[in-house]
Amino acid sequence: MKKGEFLYEGKAKRLYKTDHPDVLWLEYKDDATAFNGQKRASLTGKGQLNNAISSWFFTLLSRHGIQHHFLDTVSDREQLVRPVTILPLEVVVRAIAAGSLCRRLGLAEGTKLPHVLVEWYYKDDALGDPLVTEDHIALLQLATPVQLAFMKDQALQIHTILQQALEPKGIVLVDFKLEFGLDANGRLMLADEISPDTCRFWDAASGKKMDKDRFRQDLGGTLEGYQEILERLGGGANV
Ligand code: TMP
Repeated sequence: MKKGEFLYEGKAKRLYKTDHPDVLWLEYKDDATAFNGQKRASLTGKGQLNNAISSWFFTLLSRHGIQHHFLDTVSDREQLVRPVTILPLEVVVRAIAAGSLCRRLGLAEGTKLPHVLVEWYYKDDALGDPLVTEDHIALLQLATPVQLAFMKDQALQIHTILQQALEPKGIVLVDFKLEFGLDANGRLMLADEISPDTCRFWDAASGKKMDKDRFRQDLGGTLEGYQEILERLGGGANV
C-alpha cells in the first residue's frame, strides 16, 4: 500500500489517498489544540501515542463486533482507514461529570451520573460546536432519526466495552467523544479516533488526569499521562 495524494488536514490528523480506492492513509500529528483552536501547542510524540492508543481501542471494538473505519497500523504515527463521509456531529458519552457538563449544569467535577448520558454537538467551528437536541438535528438535517438511534445504541455499547476493558487497568473512563461516517454504500460506522485527546481518563487510585485536560488546564505532564495510558493498555502490543 502506497501513501498517495494529500486530501485533508484537521487539527490533529492529516488524511491522504492510497493506491487503493477503498483505503485512506491517516497520519496523527503532534499538534494539540483546545478551546476551538484558541490554545495551541506541539507536543512531540503525541502523534505516535494517539496512533497506538487509538489502534488499540479500534482493535478491541472489532473483537466486540463494532464496525469502524480503522483497518491497520502502518507506522508509528500512521494507520489505514476506510473512506467515510463524517456526519457533522460529535457524540459525547458521559458516566461522570466533568468539563462542559459541570459548567452547563453546575455539577461538581467527579459526580457519578445516575445513568450514562449521550449528548450531541454540532461540528461547526464558527458556532463553537454547540450542544444540539434531536429536534435541532432534524431541523438542520444533520442525521436521520434512524441514524441517531443507531449512533446512540453504538455509543452506549462502546461505553460498556471501553469501561469494562479499562477498569481492570485502574483507569476510570469519565467521558469520551465519538464521530461517525457514511461509507460508499451509505453504511454508518464509527470513525475518527479514540485517544486521550478525545476521552477523559482518570487514575482510579489517585484521580490523576491522564488525558488532554492536562493540556487544557495547564497541569503539565500531558504526554506523560498519554504514555501512562498506553503502558497500562500493554504498550500497544496486545489487546
Ligand atoms: P466537554 O466536557 O468539553 O464537552 O468534553 C466531553 C468529551 O469530549 C471529553 O472526553 C473531551 C471530548 N472532546 C473532544 O474530543 N473534542 C472536543 O472538541 C471537545 C470540546 C471535547
